[in-house]
Amino acid sequence: MRNFTFSNPTRILFGRAVVAKLGPEAARAGKKALLVYGGGSIKKNGVYDVLTATLAKEGVAVTEHPGVKPNPVLSHVRAGIKKARENDCELIVAAGGGSVIDEAKAIAAGAKYGGDVWDFFCGKAEIREALPLFTALTLPATGSEMNSGCVVTNEETAQKYSAQSAALFPRVSALDPETTLTLPPRQVANGAVDTLAHIIEGYFTAKDPDAAVTDEIVHALARSAISSTERILKDPSDYNARASMMWSATLALNGLAACGYGGVTFINHAIEHSLSALYDIAHGAGLAIIMPAWFKHHLKTAGPARLEKFGEAVFGTRTAEETIRAFEDFFRKTGAPVRLSEAKIPAADIPRIAENAMGLIRLWGMKHEQPEIEKILSNAK
Ligand code: NZQ
Ligand code: ZN
Repeated sequence: MRNFTFSNPTRILFGRAVVAKLGPEAARAGKKALLVYGGGSIKKNGVYDVLTATLAKEGVAVTEHPGVKPNPVLSHVRAGIKKARENDCELIVAAGGGSVIDEAKAIAAGAKYGGDVWDFFCGKAEIREALPLFTALTLPATGSEMNSGCVVTNEETAQKYSAQSAALFPRVSALDPETTLTLPPRQVANGAVDTLAHIIEGYFTAKDPDAAVTDEIVHALARSAISSTERILKDPSDYNARASMMWSATLALNGLAACGYGGVTFINHAIEHSLSALYDIAHGAGLAIIMPAWFKHHLKTAGPARLEKFGEAVFGTRTAEETIRAFEDFFRKTGAPVRLSEAKIPAADIPRIAENAMGLIRLWGMKHEQPEIEKILSNAK
């Protein structure tokens, strides 16, 4: 088990009706907020009404920045920065899924920066400060509500890149499982796959895998995410399953599930981001295609030990091959695609996808070359 620093400053308000508590929290940071949201789901599930009412009650004036699209794009981030500046916004409130929270983070950093916000994503500049951010999460998946990262697509260059800084941790995040009751099954599936992806990246790429406590956290989160998802798909109104899923997804990428591993790489994410960048596929759906393909490659290059350990603890399987099949079976059960063809991505595009992925692989300092990435993608045909 290697040395590590764990620090997470985000305050979590969890449970029924917690969105209404965001007003007083936000008011401590200022009286002018930019309210960032997506295509309108928060207007259908009541989050918008609760949030605007609590902000108004606390005397926080709101400038709206709606229309964040899944896989948020740079042009819309730039528009948000302009709005935040023109209206002297002192804080950002984000309500929605990972895309909304990520765009809000990029706006929060961009509003405090003299240059172009894309500098943060392509490694040209570091984020040193950001406007304070408050979030109401409505989709358990990315962990963005309690982490310091954000992902944005430059739609002109087809680059889906990330930025990271301690300044990006949300100050307070409200997690009300009831807000997830309106999620379509497809988004439930995407969230489950993404949650699993976040914990397997560390587990399978650990520099030092002898960190029993972290292994057990990973096993527990995986079991909880899988069983909660199965319960939700059977009975979408199951509050406790929604709650367990929501907290599992948050814990999967708030830093806890990688402590002691001594450095991990996000290879599945690096490849998936190219699928999202090139085909605008949902992140979770892309991961369901890449993960089994990467596991097959991992088995050949690193051997069966970790796949066997994970499989025995999570699925009750005995061999590495059975573990990979168990992942695929679970993904299929949720309705996620597990092959490129199932997402209508032609195998002939593999070199193009791999070439695109190399941009992020280099930026993240990972030691992979294009032929290896093409080989992994070929396992997903
Ligand atoms: O736009 P609205 O109308 O809100 O609808 C959204 C969107 O269409 C809908 N939705 C959200 N909550 C809902 C709901 N519909 C009904 N009821 C609700 N309660 O779901 C759709 C997808 O939303 P999105 O935010 O795109 O999904 P997700 O949370 O999976 O976020 C994906 C984005 O996050 C990035 C991904 O790459 C992708 O861009 N990631 C961010 C990470 C981070 N910041 O740490 C890490 C992840 O690995 C990931 O890369
Ligand atoms: Zn992810």
